[in-house]
Amino acid sequence: MEGVQLFHLIRRLYIHAFDPYPPFTSYGAWAVVTGCTDGIGLSYAKELARHGMKIVLIGRNMEKLQEVARVIDKEFGVETCIIQADFTKLDIYDGMKEKLAGLDIGVLVNNVGILTDFSPFLDVPEGEKAYQDLLLVNNLSMIRMTHMILPGMVKKRKGILINVSSLIGISPLPFLATYAATKAFADSFSRSLAYEYKDKGIHVHLVGPGQVYTKMTHKLLDGPGFGAPTPDAFVRSDLRSITKIQVTSGFWYHNLLRDFISFLNYVAPTLTVHLLGWKLTSELAKQRLAGSRKK
Ligand SMILES: NC(=O)c1ccc[n+]([C@@H]2O[C@H](COP(=O)([O-])OP(=O)(O)OC[C@H]3O[C@@H](n4cnc5c(N)ncnc54)[C@H](OP(=O)(O)O)[C@@H]3O)[C@@H](O)[C@H]2O)c1
Repeated sequence: MEGVQLFHLIRRLYIHAFDPYPPFTSYGAWAVVTGCTDGIGLSYAKELARHGMKIVLIGRNMEKLQEVARVIDKEFGVETCIIQADFTKLDIYDGMKEKLAGLDIGVLVNNVGILTDFSPFLDVPEGEKAYQDLLLVNNLSMIRMTHMILPGMVKKRKGILINVSSLIGISPLPFLATYAATKAFADSFSRSLAYEYKDKGIHVHLVGPGQVYTKMTHKLLDGPGFGAPTPDAFVRSDLRSITKIQVTSGFWYHNLLRDFISFLNYVAPTLTVHLLGWKLTSELAKQRLAGSRKK
């Protein structure tokens, strides 16, 4: 049994570091990336463009979208299509469907995601709206985008779905409870979908990163490093594995953490919660509460 686990560990390390990239354009001409104007989403958009894919850029800020389109055109010379959409709104999907109709889409990256403040559940500022936005952005976007784009992939019997979850999705995380739950949702949804559509030529790839140095996390980190790679380094590592590993944390160090946490979850669940950052999140929650009391 240990031998099998060790084999999988080494196989994943090898694939993320050395395997050739899949022939992305053979799945379709276009890749659709949600939340593509910063961080991990921006890196997926750029890296898929580097591999020759045309990119549908979906984000909420038109200036940032235009800048990403300009950079992709200049660096990679591929076509882009901009869709401005705020995923906290429900009325964005019909217009999006019209714009995507007729495109030969090979890759969908469900990346968009937001965090809530580090806080006990009842103390998140404007909690009702914050939680609603969280579910709309982190979960409903994944369901609606997949529901919109998967039929075209099934019809041609090929396609890649990349669903961005988080390492946090595999264990509870106090003071970030709702965010952790949205990521557990993404995990379960993606794993189930992978079984349903495997025989129809669809790769459902679930990637649950540990910390990546982006605007979401930079205040918590001193800088990028092997524990928290840059989004470009992270995405390059993940893209090698897309059609070969169904569930991954995308990066060698994050995969080691994932295996360690999964094991600990089994034998010492409270210790796992500590390791995942309970101390840090509770400290941040205390600081935030103290700050808001002073005002
Ligand atoms: N960074 C990490 O350590 C880490 C770890 C685990 C999982 N993840 C997951 O990875 C994904 C990307 O995270 P990131 O670190 O790259 O985040 P980020 O740097 O904050 O970038 C998020 C992207 O989503 C866009 N976005 C946010 N709210 C939106 C909305 N309502 N409508 C449309 N677009 C919206 C942002 O647009 P603007 O440019 O307009 O802000 C930006 O392009 C998320 O799902 C996150 O949960 C991240």
